[in-house]
Amino acid sequence: MFAIVGSGICGLGIGWRLASAGAEVTVVDSATAGQGATWAAAGMLAPQAEAEHGEEALLPLLLESRAMWAGFAAELEAASGIDVGYRTEGTVVVALDRDDHEFLEQRHTYLKSLGLDVEWLTGRAVRKREPGLAPAVTGGIYSPLDHQVDNRAVFKALRTAYLEAGGTLIENTPVDEIAMSGGRAVGIRLPDREIAAETVVLAAGAWSRLVPGLPEPSRPPVRPLKGQMIALQMDPAAPLVEHVVWGPDIYIVPRRDGRLVIGATVEEMGFDTQMTAGGLYELTRHAWETLPGIYDLPVIETWAGLRPASRDDAPILGASDIPGLVIATGHHRNGILLAPVTADAISGLVLRGETRESVRPFGPERFAAPARQREGLA
Ligand code: GLY
Repeated sequence: MFAIVGSGICGLGIGWRLASAGAEVTVVDSATAGQGATWAAAGMLAPQAEAEHGEEALLPLLLESRAMWAGFAAELEAASGIDVGYRTEGTVVVALDRDDHEFLEQRHTYLKSLGLDVEWLTGRAVRKREPGLAPAVTGGIYSPLDHQVDNRAVFKALRTAYLEAGGTLIENTPVDEIAMSGGRAVGIRLPDREIAAETVVLAAGAWSRLVPGLPEPSRPPVRPLKGQMIALQMDPAAPLVEHVVWGPDIYIVPRRDGRLVIGATVEEMGFDTQMTAGGLYELTRHAWETLPGIYDLPVIETWAGLRPASRDDAPILGASDIPGLVIATGHHRNGILLAPVTADAISGLVLRGETRESVRPFGPERFAAPARQREGLA
């Protein structure tokens, strides 16, 4: 019997793999399932477009998971009967002025030096690919393998596949604490019952640090990083744009049904999820500068989500210092992208005690305080 705290794409993905292998699994969420970062995300599978400077060590894991996505999406669709909106047009990253242009040229050279599949486009070539982009676009990078999925459809499919595989889902129920016995995690305590588990997986996104029951040094160092988003409605028969587009400080993600997802702010605001006038202004201004045709589109939704950011912005994946407790959180901006590798790596660890080589650098032990500090000597 296994228990998973958190029903986002990672918690349910791990649960799906475990249940499909015949294990008894319970996933618990204090809110309605999948309504955290999984719901708020844009669904970009774009390590080449999105990876930030200083994240070079993370790139191989991002690329590995990206390569898994087509298979993961097909498997999920077959298991659930739900189309997850996997689109393969690729991503275009564009520059609007000389500084952006120089930055992107350097980025293109760097990505090429890694042997990655990217193509430099002149301003004219960018507009040939996406005629709706601003005349000011001076050039950009085309990244054909940076695809997208509809993250909300993925959640619905995962929930269905997980339940079909025999998993149990308990929603709107707080975990009062992770139950410990003899220094080992032995299950989870809910308000009305205790669920015994040989392994507990903590996959509660930005809330992972707040789940009671763990001693302070064992709580994963994640914090919420707010992102405000908006969605506009295009005519699906005449979409303004077909690729995922990154402009300066903005991304624009077209769905097949004409929904145009635009994001996102990056704000250290704790657990606040309010939309602000400034957030809306920045999003619409940057999006309009990149894709002027958005000006007349109706706004159909605004929302803010909380990315689970770790201290080094890389995920926290692996066995904790507490026997029986495994951590899968801290996915920062890459939770949707990293879902397939997270599901396989963590289910492999839970079922067979195997640590996948590619996640080895991202274990929780990298944040362990030096022994002298733990013992209160420093
Ligand atoms: N991955 C999209 C975002 O973090 O805003």
